[in-house]
Amino acid sequence: MSSELSAYVSDTAPGRGALRPARSWLHSDAPSRSLNGPWRFRLSPTASVAEDFAAEGFDDHGWDSIPVPSHWVLQGDGIYGRPIYTNIQFPFPIDPPHVPDENPTGDYRRHFDIPADWSDAARVVLRFDGVESLFKVWVNGVEIGSASGSRLAHEFDVTSAVRTGDNVVAVRAHQWSAASYVEDQDQWWLPGIFRDVTLITRPAGGIEDVWLRTGFDDGHGHIDPEVTADAAAFPVTLRIPELGIEQVWATAADVAPLDVAGVQPWSAEQPRLYDATVSTAAESIALRVGFRTVEIRRDRFLVNGRRVVFHGVNRHEVHPQRGRVFDEEHARADLARMKRFNVNAIRTSHYPPHPRLLDLADELGFWVVLECDLETHGFDKVDWAGNPSDDPAWRAAYLDRIQRTVERDKNHPSIVIWSLGNEAGTGSNLAAMSAWVHARDAGRPVHYEGDYTGEYTDIYSRMYATVLETEQLGTEGARSTLMNCTPAQSARQRTKPFLLCEYAHAMGNGPGALDQYEALVHEYPRLHGGFVWEWRDHGILTTAPDGTPYYAYGGDFGEVLHDGNFVMDGMLLSNDVPTPSLHEYKAVVQPVRFVFDGDTVAITNLRHSADTSDLRFRWRVEHDGTPVDSGALEVPVVTAGESQRVPLPKIPVSPDAETWLTIDAVLAAGTPWAPEEHVIATAQLDRSIPRPVPAVRLRTGWQPGDGTLTLGIAEFANGSLVRLAGRAATGPRLELFRAPTDNDESPSDGVEESDASIAGVSNADLWRRDGLHRLTTRRISLERTADALRTTDKVSAANSALSVMVESVWSLEDDELELRVEIEPSGGWRTVWPRIGIRFDLPDGTAPVDGAEWFGLGPLESYPDSLRAARTGHFSSTIGDLSVDYARPQETGHRSQLRRLTLASGDTEVLRIVAIPDTHGRRPGFTLSRHTPQQITQAGHPFELPDTTTSHLIIDAAQHGLGSRACGPDVWPEFALRPESRTIRLRITEG
Ligand code: GAL
Repeated sequence: MSSELSAYVSDTAPGRGALRPARSWLHSDAPSRSLNGPWRFRLSPTASVAEDFAAEGFDDHGWDSIPVPSHWVLQGDGIYGRPIYTNIQFPFPIDPPHVPDENPTGDYRRHFDIPADWSDAARVVLRFDGVESLFKVWVNGVEIGSASGSRLAHEFDVTSAVRTGDNVVAVRAHQWSAASYVEDQDQWWLPGIFRDVTLITRPAGGIEDVWLRTGFDDGHGHIDPEVTADAAAFPVTLRIPELGIEQVWATAADVAPLDVAGVQPWSAEQPRLYDATVSTAAESIALRVGFRTVEIRRDRFLVNGRRVVFHGVNRHEVHPQRGRVFDEEHARADLARMKRFNVNAIRTSHYPPHPRLLDLADELGFWVVLECDLETHGFDKVDWAGNPSDDPAWRAAYLDRIQRTVERDKNHPSIVIWSLGNEAGTGSNLAAMSAWVHARDAGRPVHYEGDYTGEYTDIYSRMYATVLETEQLGTEGARSTLMNCTPAQSARQRTKPFLLCEYAHAMGNGPGALDQYEALVHEYPRLHGGFVWEWRDHGILTTAPDGTPYYAYGGDFGEVLHDGNFVMDGMLLSNDVPTPSLHEYKAVVQPVRFVFDGDTVAITNLRHSADTSDLRFRWRVEHDGTPVDSGALEVPVVTAGESQRVPLPKIPVSPDAETWLTIDAVLAAGTPWAPEEHVIATAQLDRSIPRPVPAVRLRTGWQPGDGTLTLGIAEFANGSLVRLAGRAATGPRLELFRAPTDNDESPSDGVEESDASIAGVSNADLWRRDGLHRLTTRRISLERTADALRTTDKVSAANSALSVMVESVWSLEDDELELRVEIEPSGGWRTVWPRIGIRFDLPDGTAPVDGAEWFGLGPLESYPDSLRAARTGHFSSTIGDLSVDYARPQETGHRSQLRRLTLASGDTEVLRIVAIPDTHGRRPGFTLSRHTPQQITQAGHPFELPDTTTSHLIIDAAQHGLGSRACGPDVWPEFALRPESRTIRLRITEG
């Protein structure tokens, strides 16, 4: 590579020739033209190919065609390379600011037409909204400039290069450049022109930029305008017709703040926007204004004077086919989904999204933390030596990035915090960014989690703090020093509002403990909630060798270096399906709280500022899950932060069934994000009359026997079940294993660990060490009476002296088959157990078991530390829908607190099972699946699960919690399953 070229690719400066200062992404009526669409394209393996393609007359007929916007690695089915996924690791040598000569380089060309009437324009500007990672532009063979900052807008003045009629634009984009060192976010590396390219006219006398800063105070709106325009452009007029505003500023000096009476404030709950225009004779800019004041008062973060609690998600811009290419319809549907799941905030991790996303956030209502495009996490590997964040050579690039971020999006009322970036260590360049923001925008605080000691940011922010630590952070006057802080620094941080910019890592099945974090927010006002990591999985749709479609993660494209499925950690699967964790989240953060007390319920409005006049309350009663009565609950309007106590309806209570009262708060009218009747919040009250649990009948007269007998619907051979209700069946077999979740597979960090963990070792490793997935059985005894069979088995694993004694008693009780299983571990088990269950295998026979109906907790899976979305009721599901298609197959499908279960084959009921609570009143859970935990463990992707028609029913006396150890705390001790004795009792009848 020529030294000139290598100097260009490894230049730490943010490119040359782009217009500065950056300005807002405005909706202007000046003529413009989209250059999206097919471009000619050629990919070269290195950066050193001659630049002759940029010449006007270059013959590109042999080139391919590629759509703009797109990522070349997602086009052409692999002919332009493949995506690479790394989390922290740099996929190139750590040799800053240099990158390898193997540097995929995309050359683009297209023609465009400039209409004759554009000749009146003072200037023509070419805007790129996103190109990864470094690009250079030519128009009609004239070099215009270059830029880096992949998810930032760059504008170039091309006035002198364009002409009326046909023109040619050429772009060269390099996958790797110096900028790659500061764009090391945990996501796919996806090169190319992936956002819009637009040609914009700038009329003489037009408006270069406008900023309508707003405030709201005491029922009054406030506008502090900033208009950037030539003196000759004046007069400039601000119009807000709905507010009767028509304000003419004759000269720049006249532009002054305005007080506006009679406005409604903007909030994430009531996103009131007013249409405004700012015009000159030559150009009119349309804006949507929201009035709100953001401030920090002591350790409170307030909007319009009221404390904000962030029920937020980290949102990456990602789609299984388009990658980071924006699709407005999909984004709107995604945001509407967030609203339906009670999400009220978005952190734009870890870069500015497509600018339209902010228009949608203003309109639908979200508190937005807008983050700059910056992460240098890979320097962690070398103890942050050479980290750009503290190197003057990078100062200009850092400042350029934050300026482009703030300037582009400054008009949005939804943005309440600016974030400097993510995981970029610390250093003077970050401090300089913060200083610049403070000087430019006094109306919004600055966030950066990596400023641990609080040198230059306004909010104390952490990621993945444990529940205990979070609680300590909320406590007034706590004396403990904070992570990486001296006592003085700790004291400073404690004067600030606290938020968790990331928590509750939602990888695979999990997280647990959402409710524990939420409870703290209501107890300690310094805690302002946080942002779940993360909204959606980043799977890329591809096909297995046999053509089966699936969602790929790291390693699936043959990357040399990758981080596997760590990119699949969303509450939404890649195909937009909400996982149970999102339902759990919705229930945990619901903005209405119900507290039952005797014959009344206290209803508390937990919202920021909206009252409950948009809600209706309704109730229903179910007897063993069957609806018997329902009605409307009259609730006076509850203002934000207040409660109202109302009487409960008189309801029919059943003498022989469980009686449950459910109250829902639903939308009284449709909104842009949900229809009328959409459920916002739910609570249940158990009104059952206590009923006796059938006692265990003592039995005498046990005799040895050969174990071949029939007891009601059960047939046994050699003491083992062979048929149930005429169908082949085996079991019960002790099952202690679950297909490890991503949290189970993650090593303990040795910090928060219980005595059952070993630092650096995962629970799954401990389970494999103890052989929980390969248990074997030795029958110790087999006895029978006329109507009962008893077996005792010792269950243990190869090369282990640990064991579990399992006594199973099959009997006929009142003509019904009862199975009682006593499970008793030997001494010496040191780990937690994934589950204490018994498994039945139900091979195909003539018609496979393919569905279930049950009375218990549902409708979705639940675990001890994730139970809030589950309600007691009667549910049904196909066997397939009982499992969640996690990107990497793992434990799924557990339904807790089972009372009754019916297994079905098509429309035919096959078996009915009643679960009798144990002597502590504990009820088992169940899992019905086509795969055993051992089979699920073997599969790396759903398509690798074997085709089978055998169904497996596991009845669990207990399951281990979920936690979020894949990145965060382990299962809370209360929900960790210790080896212990358990009893399972089932009554089984033919369907
Ligand atoms: C955080 C990081 C995120 C993501 C997450 C784990 O440290 O900021 O980008 O990597 O961990 O999934």
